[in-house]
Amino acid sequence: MASSRLKFDEWEDLYAERMDHLRRSAVRDLFAAVSRPDVIGLSGGMPDISSLPLDQVAECARRCVTEEGLKALQYGGSDGRVQFREVVCDILAKQGVEATPDDVILTSGSQQALDFLGRVFINQGDEVICEGPSYLGALQAFSAYMPHMNCIEMDEEGMRMDLLEARLKELGPGKAKFIYTIPNFNNPSGITLSLERRRRLLELAHEYGVPVVEDDPYGLIRYEGEDLPRLKSMDPSVIYLGTTSKIFAPGLRLAWVVAPKPFIDRMNLSKQGADLCTSPFNMVLAEHYFKETDWLATLEISKARYRERKNAMLAALEELFPPEASWTHPEGGLFLWVSLPPYFDTNQMLSVALEHGVAYVPGTNCFPDGRGRESMRLCYSYESPENIHEAIKRLADVIDDRMGLYRAFLEAGALPGSGHTSEGK
Ligand SMILES: Cc1ncc(COP(=O)(O)O)c(C=O)c1O
Repeated sequence: MASSRLKFDEWEDLYAERMDHLRRSAVRDLFAAVSRPDVIGLSGGMPDISSLPLDQVAECARRCVTEEGLKALQYGGSDGRVQFREVVCDILAKQGVEATPDDVILTSGSQQALDFLGRVFINQGDEVICEGPSYLGALQAFSAYMPHMNCIEMDEEGMRMDLLEARLKELGPGKAKFIYTIPNFNNPSGITLSLERRRRLLELAHEYGVPVVEDDPYGLIRYEGEDLPRLKSMDPSVIYLGTTSKIFAPGLRLAWVVAPKPFIDRMNLSKQGADLCTSPFNMVLAEHYFKETDWLATLEISKARYRERKNAMLAALEELFPPEASWTHPEGGLFLWVSLPPYFDTNQMLSVALEHGVAYVPGTNCFPDGRGRESMRLCYSYESPENIHEAIKRLADVIDDRMGLYRAFLEAGALPGSGHTSEGK
Protein backbone atom coordinates (compact mmCIF):
# COMPACT_ATOMS: atom_id res chain seq x y z
CA MET A 1 0.00 0.00 0.00
CA ALA A 2 1.31 3.46 -0.87
CA SER A 3 2.49 5.34 2.19
CA SER A 4 1.16 8.84 2.74
CA ARG A 5 4.32 9.61 4.74
CA LEU A 6 6.55 12.00 2.81
CA LYS A 7 9.65 9.98 2.03
CA PHE A 8 13.08 11.29 1.16
CA ASP A 9 13.23 8.68 -1.59
CA GLU A 10 9.82 7.38 -2.59
CA TRP A 11 11.35 4.30 -4.29
CA GLU A 12 13.37 3.29 -1.26
CA ASP A 13 11.39 0.06 -0.78
CA LEU A 14 11.70 -0.92 -4.42
CA TYR A 15 15.43 -1.15 -4.83
CA ALA A 16 17.05 -4.58 -5.14
CA GLU A 17 18.66 -6.04 -2.05
CA ARG A 18 22.05 -5.94 -3.76
CA MET A 19 22.03 -2.15 -3.49
CA ASP A 20 22.32 -2.50 0.30
CA HIS A 21 25.44 -4.61 -0.20
CA LEU A 22 27.08 -2.49 -2.87
CA ARG A 23 30.25 -0.85 -1.57
CA ARG A 24 31.08 2.76 -2.35
CA SER A 25 34.36 3.68 -4.03
CA ALA A 26 36.34 6.08 -1.87
CA VAL A 27 38.28 7.16 -4.95
CA ARG A 28 35.11 8.14 -6.82
CA ASP A 29 33.72 9.85 -3.70
CA LEU A 30 36.95 11.83 -3.31
CA PHE A 31 36.93 13.02 -6.92
CA ALA A 32 35.23 16.34 -6.11
CA ALA A 33 37.48 17.09 -3.13
CA VAL A 34 40.61 16.31 -5.11
CA SER A 35 39.64 18.67 -7.91
CA ARG A 36 39.92 21.60 -5.45
CA PRO A 37 43.09 23.50 -6.41
CA ASP A 38 44.35 23.59 -2.80
CA VAL A 39 44.25 19.78 -2.44
CA ILE A 40 47.13 17.55 -3.50
CA GLY A 41 45.57 14.25 -4.53
CA LEU A 42 47.34 11.08 -3.48
CA SER A 43 44.05 9.18 -3.63
CA GLY A 44 43.13 8.48 -7.28
CA GLY A 45 45.10 5.82 -9.17
CA MET A 46 45.54 7.90 -12.30
CA PRO A 47 48.40 7.04 -14.61
CA ASP A 48 50.48 9.95 -15.90
CA ILE A 49 49.60 10.07 -19.59
CA SER A 50 51.41 13.37 -20.29
CA SER A 51 54.13 11.55 -22.24
CA LEU A 52 51.63 10.26 -24.83
CA PRO A 53 52.59 11.43 -28.35
CA LEU A 54 49.27 13.16 -29.00
CA ASP A 55 50.18 14.03 -32.59
CA GLN A 56 50.67 10.32 -33.30
CA VAL A 57 47.46 9.44 -31.46
CA ALA A 58 45.67 12.02 -33.61
CA GLU A 59 47.11 10.36 -36.72
CA CYS A 60 45.85 6.97 -35.42
CA ALA A 61 42.39 8.49 -34.91
CA ARG A 62 42.44 10.07 -38.41
CA ARG A 63 43.31 6.75 -40.00
CA CYS A 64 40.70 5.04 -37.87
CA VAL A 65 38.05 7.24 -39.50
CA THR A 66 39.42 7.51 -43.03
CA GLU A 67 40.51 3.89 -43.49
CA GLU A 68 38.02 1.92 -41.42
CA GLY A 69 35.42 4.48 -40.43
CA LEU A 70 32.41 2.46 -41.51
CA LYS A 71 33.54 -0.55 -39.49
CA ALA A 72 34.95 1.40 -36.55
CA LEU A 73 31.71 3.36 -36.15
CA GLN A 74 29.44 0.31 -36.48
CA TYR A 75 28.46 -2.30 -33.82
CA GLY A 76 31.00 -5.10 -33.44
CA GLY A 77 31.07 -8.69 -32.19
CA SER A 78 30.75 -9.26 -28.43
CA ASP A 79 34.19 -10.84 -28.15
CA GLY A 80 35.89 -7.84 -29.82
CA ARG A 81 37.71 -7.32 -33.14
CA VAL A 82 40.01 -10.19 -34.01
CA GLN A 83 42.67 -7.68 -35.18
CA PHE A 84 42.84 -6.19 -31.69
CA ARG A 85 42.78 -9.61 -30.05
CA GLU A 86 45.87 -10.37 -32.17
CA VAL A 87 47.51 -7.21 -30.83
CA VAL A 88 46.64 -8.42 -27.32
CA CYS A 89 48.38 -11.74 -28.07
CA ASP A 90 51.53 -9.78 -29.05
CA ILE A 91 51.40 -7.78 -25.83
CA LEU A 92 50.92 -11.02 -23.87
CA ALA A 93 53.87 -12.64 -25.66
CA LYS A 94 56.10 -9.82 -24.34
CA GLN A 95 55.06 -11.02 -20.87
CA GLY A 96 55.74 -14.69 -21.58
CA VAL A 97 52.06 -15.59 -22.00
CA GLU A 98 51.11 -17.66 -25.05
CA ALA A 99 47.59 -17.11 -26.33
CA THR A 100 45.57 -17.11 -29.56
CA PRO A 101 42.77 -14.64 -30.35
CA ASP A 102 40.22 -17.36 -29.49
CA ASP A 103 41.47 -17.34 -25.89
CA VAL A 104 40.74 -13.61 -25.58
CA ILE A 105 37.62 -11.49 -25.00
CA LEU A 106 37.72 -7.70 -24.91
CA THR A 107 35.92 -5.75 -22.22
CA SER A 108 35.13 -2.10 -21.51
CA GLY A 109 37.97 -1.76 -19.00
CA SER A 110 39.10 -4.49 -16.61
CA GLN A 111 36.51 -3.08 -14.25
CA GLN A 112 33.83 -4.58 -16.50
CA ALA A 113 35.67 -7.91 -16.50
CA LEU A 114 35.59 -7.85 -12.68
CA ASP A 115 31.85 -7.26 -12.73
CA PHE A 116 31.39 -10.14 -15.22
CA LEU A 117 33.54 -12.37 -13.04
CA GLY A 118 31.02 -11.84 -10.28
CA ARG A 119 28.10 -12.33 -12.67
CA VAL A 120 29.54 -15.61 -14.00
CA PHE A 121 30.69 -17.17 -10.73
CA ILE A 122 29.02 -15.73 -7.65
CA ASN A 123 25.69 -16.73 -6.12
CA GLN A 124 24.66 -14.96 -2.93
CA GLY A 125 26.72 -16.23 0.00
CA ASP A 126 29.37 -17.97 -2.17
CA GLU A 127 32.92 -18.06 -0.88
CA VAL A 128 35.41 -15.90 -2.76
CA ILE A 129 39.06 -15.50 -1.78
CA CYS A 130 41.09 -12.32 -2.17
CA GLU A 131 44.29 -10.95 -0.72
CA GLY A 132 44.20 -8.23 1.89
CA PRO A 133 44.55 -5.40 1.06
CA SER A 134 42.96 -5.73 -2.37
CA TYR A 135 41.73 -3.52 -5.21
CA LEU A 136 38.74 -1.54 -3.97
CA GLY A 137 37.11 -1.60 -7.41
CA ALA A 138 37.15 -5.41 -7.41
CA LEU A 139 35.64 -5.53 -3.93
CA GLN A 140 32.99 -3.10 -5.12
CA ALA A 141 32.23 -5.13 -8.27
CA PHE A 142 32.00 -8.44 -6.39
CA SER A 143 29.87 -6.93 -3.61
CA ALA A 144 26.93 -6.56 -6.01
CA TYR A 145 26.70 -10.37 -6.13
CA MET A 146 26.78 -10.68 -2.33
CA PRO A 147 29.58 -13.22 -1.84
CA HIS A 148 31.24 -14.05 1.45
CA MET A 149 34.75 -12.65 1.01
CA ASN A 150 37.67 -14.49 2.58
CA CYS A 151 40.51 -12.03 2.83
CA ILE A 152 43.98 -13.58 3.14
CA GLU A 153 46.61 -11.41 4.81
CA MET A 154 49.72 -10.35 2.90
CA ASP A 155 53.29 -9.78 3.97
CA GLU A 156 56.20 -8.39 1.96
CA GLU A 157 56.10 -11.47 -0.33
CA GLY A 158 52.40 -11.15 -1.12
CA MET A 159 49.47 -13.34 -0.10
CA ARG A 160 50.42 -15.69 2.76
CA MET A 161 50.19 -19.24 1.49
CA ASP A 162 49.98 -20.79 4.99
CA LEU A 163 46.83 -18.76 5.66
CA LEU A 164 45.43 -19.50 2.21
CA GLU A 165 45.97 -23.22 2.71
CA ALA A 166 44.33 -23.13 6.13
CA ARG A 167 41.30 -21.31 4.73
CA LEU A 168 40.98 -23.67 1.74
CA LYS A 169 41.17 -26.61 4.13
CA GLU A 170 38.38 -25.14 6.28
CA LEU A 171 36.19 -24.50 3.25
CA GLY A 172 36.90 -27.87 1.64
CA PRO A 173 37.60 -28.78 -2.01
CA GLY A 174 35.54 -27.07 -4.71
CA LYS A 175 33.90 -24.68 -2.21
CA ALA A 176 35.60 -21.37 -3.07
CA LYS A 177 34.45 -19.91 -6.39
CA PHE A 178 37.77 -18.24 -7.22
CA ILE A 179 40.95 -16.73 -5.79
CA TYR A 180 41.42 -13.11 -6.88
CA THR A 181 44.99 -11.81 -6.83
CA ILE A 182 47.01 -8.87 -8.17
CA PRO A 183 50.45 -10.51 -8.17
CA ASN A 184 52.39 -7.60 -9.68
CA PHE A 185 52.47 -4.37 -7.63
CA ASN A 186 49.19 -5.02 -5.91
CA ASN A 187 46.76 -2.14 -5.81
CA PRO A 188 46.81 -0.77 -3.06
CA SER A 189 50.02 -2.02 -1.43
CA GLY A 190 52.55 -2.15 -4.29
CA ILE A 191 53.58 -5.61 -3.03
CA THR A 192 54.61 -8.34 -5.53
CA LEU A 193 53.92 -12.04 -5.04
CA SER A 194 57.23 -13.94 -4.83
CA LEU A 195 58.05 -16.71 -7.30
CA GLU A 196 57.90 -19.40 -4.65
CA ARG A 197 54.42 -18.24 -3.60
CA ARG A 198 53.25 -18.08 -7.23
CA ARG A 199 54.13 -21.78 -7.51
CA ARG A 200 52.44 -22.59 -4.22
CA LEU A 201 49.31 -20.63 -5.09
CA LEU A 202 48.86 -22.63 -8.28
CA GLU A 203 49.48 -25.92 -6.46
CA LEU A 204 46.89 -25.10 -3.82
CA ALA A 205 44.39 -23.89 -6.41
CA HIS A 206 44.67 -27.23 -8.20
CA GLU A 207 44.55 -29.25 -5.00
CA TYR A 208 41.33 -27.53 -3.92
CA GLY A 209 39.79 -27.10 -7.39
CA VAL A 210 39.60 -23.31 -7.29
CA PRO A 211 40.09 -21.06 -10.36
CA VAL A 212 42.77 -18.37 -10.02
CA VAL A 213 42.08 -14.86 -11.33
CA GLU A 214 45.25 -12.89 -12.08
CA ASP A 215 44.48 -9.17 -12.39
CA ASP A 216 47.55 -7.65 -14.00
CA PRO A 217 47.20 -3.98 -14.98
CA TYR A 218 50.69 -3.17 -13.67
CA GLY A 219 52.83 -6.10 -14.92
CA LEU A 220 54.46 -3.91 -17.57
CA ILE A 221 54.97 -1.04 -15.11
CA ARG A 222 58.04 -2.50 -13.44
CA TYR A 223 60.86 0.02 -13.06
CA GLU A 224 63.11 -1.84 -10.61
CA GLY A 225 64.07 -5.45 -9.87
CA GLU A 226 63.57 -8.63 -11.91
CA ASP A 227 60.41 -9.46 -13.80
CA LEU A 228 58.55 -12.51 -12.46
CA PRO A 229 56.55 -14.94 -14.59
CA ARG A 230 52.86 -14.27 -14.93
CA LEU A 231 50.70 -16.91 -13.23
CA LYS A 232 49.06 -17.35 -16.64
CA SER A 233 52.42 -18.32 -18.17
CA MET A 234 52.85 -20.95 -15.44
CA ASP A 235 49.36 -22.39 -15.74
CA PRO A 236 47.05 -22.01 -18.77
CA SER A 237 43.91 -22.49 -16.63
CA VAL A 238 44.45 -19.10 -14.95
CA ILE A 239 41.92 -16.36 -15.79
CA TYR A 240 44.09 -13.39 -16.77
CA LEU A 241 42.98 -9.73 -16.87
CA GLY A 242 44.98 -7.09 -18.75
CA THR A 243 44.16 -3.51 -19.78
CA THR A 244 45.28 -0.60 -21.94
CA SER A 245 44.62 1.74 -19.00
CA LYS A 246 48.16 1.87 -17.62
CA ILE A 247 50.10 1.22 -20.85
CA PHE A 248 48.16 3.56 -23.16
CA ALA A 249 45.09 5.46 -21.96
CA PRO A 250 42.39 4.69 -19.36
CA GLY A 251 39.94 6.90 -21.27
CA LEU A 252 39.71 4.24 -23.99
CA ARG A 253 38.08 1.78 -21.55
CA LEU A 254 39.67 -1.14 -23.40
CA ALA A 255 40.84 -4.31 -21.67
CA TRP A 256 41.06 -8.08 -22.14
CA VAL A 257 40.44 -11.37 -20.44
CA VAL A 258 42.43 -14.47 -21.41
CA ALA A 259 40.92 -17.69 -20.15
CA PRO A 260 39.79 -21.22 -21.03
CA LYS A 261 37.12 -21.30 -23.76
CA PRO A 262 34.06 -22.31 -21.63
CA PHE A 263 34.69 -19.32 -19.37
CA ILE A 264 35.19 -16.97 -22.35
CA ASP A 265 31.79 -18.14 -23.68
CA ARG A 266 30.15 -17.16 -20.42
CA MET A 267 31.91 -13.79 -20.45
CA ASN A 268 30.59 -13.33 -23.98
CA LEU A 269 27.01 -13.91 -22.76
CA SER A 270 27.56 -11.37 -19.97
CA LYS A 271 28.89 -8.90 -22.51
CA GLN A 272 25.81 -9.30 -24.71
CA GLY A 273 23.55 -8.39 -21.81
CA ALA A 274 25.71 -5.54 -20.52
CA ASP A 275 26.76 -3.44 -23.51
CA LEU A 276 26.68 -5.65 -26.64
CA CYS A 277 30.32 -4.93 -27.48
CA THR A 278 33.37 -2.92 -26.49
CA SER A 279 33.85 0.23 -28.60
CA PRO A 280 35.12 -0.88 -32.06
CA PHE A 281 36.35 2.68 -32.66
CA ASN A 282 38.63 2.52 -29.64
CA MET A 283 39.88 -0.90 -30.73
CA VAL A 284 40.88 0.34 -34.19
CA LEU A 285 42.53 3.37 -32.63
CA ALA A 286 44.46 1.15 -30.23
CA GLU A 287 45.43 -1.24 -33.05
CA HIS A 288 47.14 1.66 -34.83
CA TYR A 289 48.74 2.87 -31.62
CA PHE A 290 50.25 -0.47 -30.64
CA LYS A 291 51.30 -1.39 -34.20
CA GLU A 292 52.56 1.93 -35.49
CA THR A 293 54.00 3.89 -32.59
CA ASP A 294 56.93 3.07 -30.33
CA TRP A 295 54.58 2.57 -27.37
CA LEU A 296 57.19 0.76 -25.30
CA ALA A 297 59.48 3.82 -25.54
CA THR A 298 56.57 6.04 -24.45
CA LEU A 299 55.92 3.69 -21.54
CA GLU A 300 59.60 3.95 -20.54
CA ILE A 301 59.15 7.73 -20.13
CA SER A 302 56.16 7.17 -17.82
CA LYS A 303 58.01 4.50 -15.87
CA ALA A 304 61.00 6.81 -15.34
CA ARG A 305 58.56 9.40 -13.91
CA TYR A 306 56.92 6.85 -11.62
CA ARG A 307 60.32 5.75 -10.32
CA GLU A 308 61.31 9.35 -9.62
CA ARG A 309 58.01 10.07 -7.87
CA LYS A 310 58.07 6.88 -5.85
CA ASN A 311 61.59 7.76 -4.68
CA ALA A 312 60.42 11.28 -3.84
CA MET A 313 57.58 9.83 -1.75
CA LEU A 314 59.84 7.33 0.02
CA ALA A 315 62.38 10.07 0.81
CA ALA A 316 59.63 12.38 2.15
CA LEU A 317 58.15 9.58 4.29
CA GLU A 318 61.60 8.80 5.68
CA GLU A 319 62.21 12.48 6.45
CA LEU A 320 58.81 13.52 7.79
CA PHE A 321 56.77 10.56 9.08
CA PRO A 322 57.10 9.39 12.68
CA PRO A 323 59.22 6.29 13.41
CA GLU A 324 56.03 4.43 14.48
CA ALA A 325 54.82 4.44 10.86
CA SER A 326 55.88 1.90 8.24
CA TRP A 327 55.37 1.63 4.50
CA THR A 328 55.99 -0.63 1.53
CA HIS A 329 58.78 -0.24 -1.08
CA PRO A 330 57.24 -1.09 -4.50
CA GLU A 331 59.36 -2.00 -7.51
CA GLY A 332 56.64 -0.91 -9.92
CA GLY A 333 53.03 0.20 -10.18
CA LEU A 334 51.50 3.40 -8.83
CA PHE A 335 50.90 2.91 -5.10
CA LEU A 336 52.41 2.36 -1.71
CA TRP A 337 50.77 1.45 1.56
CA VAL A 338 51.38 3.18 4.88
CA SER A 339 50.61 1.61 8.26
CA LEU A 340 50.24 3.84 11.32
CA PRO A 341 50.02 2.80 14.99
CA PRO A 342 46.84 0.81 15.75
CA TYR A 343 45.02 3.68 17.50
CA PHE A 344 44.79 5.59 14.19
CA ASP A 345 41.56 5.67 12.24
CA THR A 346 42.41 6.92 8.76
CA ASN A 347 38.71 7.29 7.90
CA GLN A 348 38.25 9.79 10.71
CA MET A 349 41.52 11.49 9.86
CA LEU A 350 40.58 12.05 6.21
CA SER A 351 38.43 15.17 6.74
CA VAL A 352 41.27 16.79 8.70
CA ALA A 353 43.75 15.80 5.99
CA LEU A 354 41.47 17.36 3.35
CA GLU A 355 41.33 20.56 5.40
CA HIS A 356 45.15 20.49 5.31
CA GLY A 357 44.98 20.04 1.52
CA VAL A 358 45.88 16.39 1.00
CA ALA A 359 43.81 13.34 -0.01
CA TYR A 360 44.50 9.62 0.38
CA VAL A 361 42.47 6.41 0.37
CA PRO A 362 41.68 5.13 3.89
CA GLY A 363 42.75 1.50 4.28
CA THR A 364 39.34 0.05 5.18
CA ASN A 365 38.28 0.61 1.56
CA CYS A 366 40.80 -2.01 0.52
CA PHE A 367 39.51 -4.80 2.78
CA PRO A 368 36.14 -6.51 2.59
CA ASP A 369 35.91 -6.95 6.35
CA GLY A 370 36.67 -3.68 8.15
CA ARG A 371 40.40 -4.24 8.50
CA GLY A 372 42.90 -1.56 7.49
CA ARG A 373 41.64 1.18 9.83
CA GLU A 374 45.17 2.32 10.65
CA SER A 375 46.41 2.21 7.04
CA MET A 376 46.21 4.28 3.89
CA ARG A 377 46.92 3.95 0.21
CA LEU A 378 49.09 6.66 -1.29
CA CYS A 379 49.35 7.09 -5.06
CA TYR A 380 52.55 8.68 -6.35
CA SER A 381 51.98 8.44 -10.10
CA TYR A 382 50.34 11.73 -10.81
CA GLU A 383 51.86 14.55 -8.77
CA SER A 384 55.28 16.18 -9.22
CA PRO A 385 58.07 15.27 -6.75
CA GLU A 386 57.71 18.76 -5.19
CA ASN A 387 53.96 18.31 -4.68
CA ILE A 388 54.53 14.84 -3.29
CA HIS A 389 56.97 16.26 -0.71
CA GLU A 390 54.47 18.98 0.22
CA ALA A 391 51.61 16.44 0.47
CA ILE A 392 53.63 14.15 2.75
CA LYS A 393 54.55 17.16 4.89
CA ARG A 394 50.87 18.10 5.28
CA LEU A 395 49.99 14.52 6.11
CA ALA A 396 52.86 14.27 8.61
CA ASP A 397 51.53 17.41 10.37
CA VAL A 398 48.07 15.84 10.68
CA ILE A 399 49.58 12.60 12.00
CA ASP A 400 51.84 14.44 14.48
CA ASP A 401 48.85 16.37 15.83
CA ARG A 402 46.90 13.13 16.33
CA MET A 403 49.82 11.43 18.02
CA GLY A 404 50.29 14.42 20.32
CA LEU A 405 46.61 14.33 21.20
CA TYR A 406 46.74 10.60 21.83
CA ARG A 407 49.75 10.92 24.12
CA ALA A 408 48.09 13.76 26.05
CA PHE A 409 44.92 11.66 26.55
CA LEU A 410 47.01 8.70 27.54
CA GLU A 411 48.95 10.69 30.13
CA ALA A 412 45.71 12.05 31.52
CA GLY A 413 44.38 8.48 31.73
CA ALA A 414 41.47 9.64 29.59
CA LEU A 415 41.50 6.78 27.11
CA PRO A 416 39.44 3.70 27.85
CA GLY A 417 41.69 1.05 29.35
CA SER A 418 44.71 3.33 28.99
CA GLY A 419 45.98 2.83 32.57
CA HIS A 420 49.70 3.54 32.45
CA THR A 421 50.51 1.59 29.35
CA SER A 422 51.86 3.16 26.20
CA GLU A 423 50.23 0.50 23.98
CA GLY A 424 47.68 1.63 21.40
CA LYS A 425 44.10 0.64 22.04
C1 LIG B 1 44.02 -4.00 -9.86
C2 LIG B 1 43.15 -3.27 -10.82
N1 LIG B 1 42.27 -3.95 -11.56
C3 LIG B 1 41.45 -3.33 -12.42
C4 LIG B 1 41.49 -1.96 -12.58
C5 LIG B 1 40.53 -1.30 -13.53
O1 LIG B 1 41.19 -1.04 -14.75
P1 LIG B 1 40.43 -0.50 -16.03
O2 LIG B 1 40.81 0.92 -16.18
O3 LIG B 1 40.95 -1.35 -17.15
O4 LIG B 1 38.97 -0.69 -15.83
C6 LIG B 1 42.39 -1.20 -11.83
C7 LIG B 1 42.43 0.26 -11.97
O5 LIG B 1 43.10 0.97 -11.29
C8 LIG B 1 43.24 -1.88 -10.93
O6 LIG B 1 44.13 -1.23 -10.18
